[in-house]
Amino acid sequence: MIILKNLHKTYESKANKIEAVKDVTLNINKGEIYGIIGFSGAGKSTLVRCINFLEKPTNGQVVIDGKDLSTLSNKELREERKKIGMIFQHFNLMKSRTVFENIAYPLKGSSYSKEEIKNKVKDLLKLVELEDKADSYPSQLSGGQKQRVGIARALANDPKVLLCDEATSALDPQTTKSILKLLKEVNKKFGITIVIITHEMQVVKEICTRAAVMENGKVVEEGSIFKIFSEPKEKVTKNFIDSTSSLSNIYDLIENKSSVVDIKENEKILKLKYLENSTTEPIISIVSREFNVDTNIIFGNIEIIQESPLGGLVVIIRGEEAKINNVISYLQENNVEVEVIKDGRLSAKITA
Ligand SMILES: Nc1ncnc2c1ncn2[C@@H]1O[C@H](COP(=O)(O)OP(=O)(O)O)[C@@H](O)[C@H]1O
Ligand SMILES: [Mg+2]
Repeated sequence: MIILKNLHKTYESKANKIEAVKDVTLNINKGEIYGIIGFSGAGKSTLVRCINFLEKPTNGQVVIDGKDLSTLSNKELREERKKIGMIFQHFNLMKSRTVFENIAYPLKGSSYSKEEIKNKVKDLLKLVELEDKADSYPSQLSGGQKQRVGIARALANDPKVLLCDEATSALDPQTTKSILKLLKEVNKKFGITIVIITHEMQVVKEICTRAAVMENGKVVEEGSIFKIFSEPKEKVTKNFIDSTSSLSNIYDLIENKSSVVDIKENEKILKLKYLENSTTEPIISIVSREFNVDTNIIFGNIEIIQESPLGGLVVIIRGEEAKINNVISYLQENNVEVEVIKDGRLSAKITA
């Protein structure tokens, strides 16, 4: 659906040269919700503006539905762009126009009659649940409502692609959730391919099926959300994931010698991480029962992504050494990664 091939974008001024996007190659499938994650300055906005040629790539190709955008005439490009909707962090609504007029704006000059435009805007207002706000002005709306208008406007031309550049970054978590839900609905109902640019890992986790991680203009990691979250390869990806998980707090507790991690000789602290295809069995209770050990959960961070558990636990496990070792093997056999964070026997020896 969207193919980016060896895409480069360089900004050149007299003083310097900035390579904002470097050699990006990506395939985004028809109908999927694809995430592009990266910290500020990574090149995400530049990349997304290259997708609709708002920014002309310095090098490389953008192919949408089999059409190489660089080969189109200006007129053809304008037509093609109509099929690519876009929403922004700060909504970019026209302040002096009503909600109705904002949504109708992209239809100006189209072949639709006045009546048809009215009906279309009405349908869009219904879709974004703002039927009662048609005559309001943007200043009279909340952030979430403004973004709903942004979405309705982006859909006015029945696009096949919707580009979202930090569309929820100015919104609170609850409003973010409702906007993501709406985007999911739009994706399902119309089969629109959605590209979500964000620096918020939570957003990607909630809505995307696949994602790319960008750093310094490059895509450094790419794959299914599950793979990225369960087995991140790059440091930048790990940093992102840590920002949404409490499990790494265990290291602070150990560093600060918290009484929570002050374990006995027959105890170990384990960090467990569910890998792809790990079991949905109640593993902790099985372990406690079958191997005759006690487990105490200190941190837990598990959610279900694409029907598999993702995340992990930090537990204190108490029992005979051999039994604990059996537990560790059992967990590993069930695709749970085990890290021994602290071993009571060892710390007892050190302090002895
Ligand atoms: N129009 C521009 N002219 C010059 N440099 C730019 C321009 N737009 C972006 N940049 C630079 O390109 C890099 C990537 O920016 P951007 O794509 O906005 O990143 P992100 O959206 O990930 O925060 C930054 O170093 C930024 O300063
Ligand atoms: Mg940006």
